[in-house]
Amino acid sequence: MKTPLVRLEALAKSYASVPAVHPLDLEFDTGDFLAILGPSGCGKTTLLKMLGGFVPPTSGRILIGGEDVTHLPPERRPTNMVFQGYGLFPHMTVRQNIAYGPRIAGEDKALLARRVDDMLALVRLTEFGDQYPGALSGGQQQRVALARALMMRPKVLLLDEPFAALDLKLRQAMQEELRTIHKNIGGTFVFVTHDQAEAMALASKVVVMSKGRVEQVGSGEEIYRRPKTRFVSQFVGEANFFAAERKNNRVSIPGAFTFEDHGPDCPVQVGVRPERVLLGARTKQSAHSFDARIIDRLFLGAQVQYRVALPDGVTFLATTPEGALQIGETTSVGWSAEDQWVVQA
Ligand SMILES: Nc1ncnc2c1ncn2[C@@H]1O[C@H](COP(=O)(O)OP(=O)(O)OP(=O)(O)O)[C@@H](O)[C@H]1O
Ligand SMILES: [Mg+2]
Repeated sequence: MKTPLVRLEALAKSYASVPAVHPLDLEFDTGDFLAILGPSGCGKTTLLKMLGGFVPPTSGRILIGGEDVTHLPPERRPTNMVFQGYGLFPHMTVRQNIAYGPRIAGEDKALLARRVDDMLALVRLTEFGDQYPGALSGGQQQRVALARALMMRPKVLLLDEPFAALDLKLRQAMQEELRTIHKNIGGTFVFVTHDQAEAMALASKVVVMSKGRVEQVGSGEEIYRRPKTRFVSQFVGEANFFAAERKNNRVSIPGAFTFEDHGPDCPVQVGVRPERVLLGARTKQSAHSFDARIIDRLFLGAQVQYRVALPDGVTFLATTPEGALQIGETTSVGWSAEDQWVVQA
């Protein structure tokens, strides 16, 4: 079997015996765009810093290209990290900032000047080469930091929430640019974020973390459509949950319906996204349907959000583009079998 570019083996970190990252195994490859996704304090930065050599692991190993780099300093690893807050040299021009690493490494001057030109073009800052960082916008400074890291031609580029300080429109533009850059240079990017939309928009592989552990690894679509835990279900989007019981490979949701699901007899939760809940005549497309009452209606512009109640008082959300149903009406409710998932209660 081919060795993966990066392999983490039981990698763990504790600060003063408090675990920040529990032993985790993870592999990724050349060309992957990995997003490490999770709430504040779940260990994302710690994991990234261990990869880059800025934090020594408490236990476990890091292999890059088959070589054990666990105890190598940052400058001897084929990685480069873009920290949050850019870390640009204020007294150097954009060109000097970008050229810094290779210049220290003694790269040929003429070659370096050409590479800086190419890099300025790549991050669309050609006109800004002679400016100082203080005269640039946040998004422009972020692109300088990115260019400076890319100049080192790292096998693995590590990015810690690089767009967190930017407003939404600029963040989206930068995401688009980062995707294009990744496509053009074809390296391996590891991108930390606590924003699920950003992770899904960018990554070929999303690693969802919670409390120092990896909860699930998969494509954006997999983790959205087939979340494995309740935490992942709710972290990557809105989710309704119905308490249910599995017995003899059948799950029954009280007051709603029963369906086949293989697994041990135990209490479970059935998840379904609000935008996948069908109301009224649209339930004809669903595998099963039941009656429920509309108890709230919220106009959101592109969509209408309904709160719906089962006879036993359990409520859930349904969002639809149509808003004909009104509060107090009873309607049929359903969804397709492929839109539901079952997690441990
Ligand atoms: N240098 C340190 N000394 C002691 N504890 C630390 C240190 N760095 C991080 N921690 C703790 O380790 C845990 C994980 O921190 P980390 O910075 O990796 O989280 P994060 O997922 O990057 O969070 P955020 O989204 O807020 O940046 C936290 O509980 C944090 O308080
Ligand atoms: Mg962090």
